[in-house]
Amino acid sequence: MLTVLDHALIKHKLTIMRQADTSTYIFKQNLDEIAKLMAYEVTRNIPLKEIPIRTPICDTTGYELDQKIVLVPILRAGIGLVDGFRDIIPTAKIGHIGIFRDEKTLEPHEYFAKFPKDMDKSIVIVTDPMLATGGSASAAITNIKKRGAQKILLVCLVGVPEGVARIEQDHPDVDITLAALDEKLNEVGYIVPGLGDAGDRLFGTI
Ligand code: PRP
Ligand code: URA
Repeated sequence: MLTVLDHALIKHKLTIMRQADTSTYIFKQNLDEIAKLMAYEVTRNIPLKEIPIRTPICDTTGYELDQKIVLVPILRAGIGLVDGFRDIIPTAKIGHIGIFRDEKTLEPHEYFAKFPKDMDKSIVIVTDPMLATGGSASAAITNIKKRGAQKILLVCLVGVPEGVARIEQDHPDVDITLAALDEKLNEVGYIVPGLGDAGDRLFGTI
């Protein structure tokens, strides 16, 4: 299922990120803020269990998360969403998967993967600012499924219909959440209007 978050603050902050003259510092600051808002939205319905607690007044029933949460940023740019998510879910464990996209073929190439234990018992949230052809996210999810993960959410800032279709075809069980659904890919595989190369803008490697 695809969810495109419709939130005034997200639209405002993403507009700042999209602008070509936004500095690396302001780009990351807005990404942190959007990540927090996205974390709040995508965790809305995660399972809870009831626990008995005692308030200063009486015994009552409270709630705690019923499953571990694992964040898996797709390196490099996916790292940019981790700080915001961790602010909201401080108990989350972090896995890493390194994938870069060949500039000519647009095919994904994996160069690193390390995950925490118990992937099969966790809710896994894959983060990447950009869902372009969908090749990188699809490859990451394939790897994560090999570790036994059953419940996987994909959270990207900006996507296009091509990338969404690729994930829906390869991984129909994965829910996709975007901050914006853009128009299309250009002839070199960049999102239009997009925000440019997310990794370069985030890490200042332009
Ligand atoms: C970017 C982005 C995604 C990928 C999206 O990473 O962060 O991972 O491209 O493209 P796709 O949907 O067509 O696969 P990139 O390969 O530029 O690596 P980087 O994060 O290290 O800059
Ligand atoms: N990767 C990016 O960083 N930006 C795009 O527009 C497409 C892929």
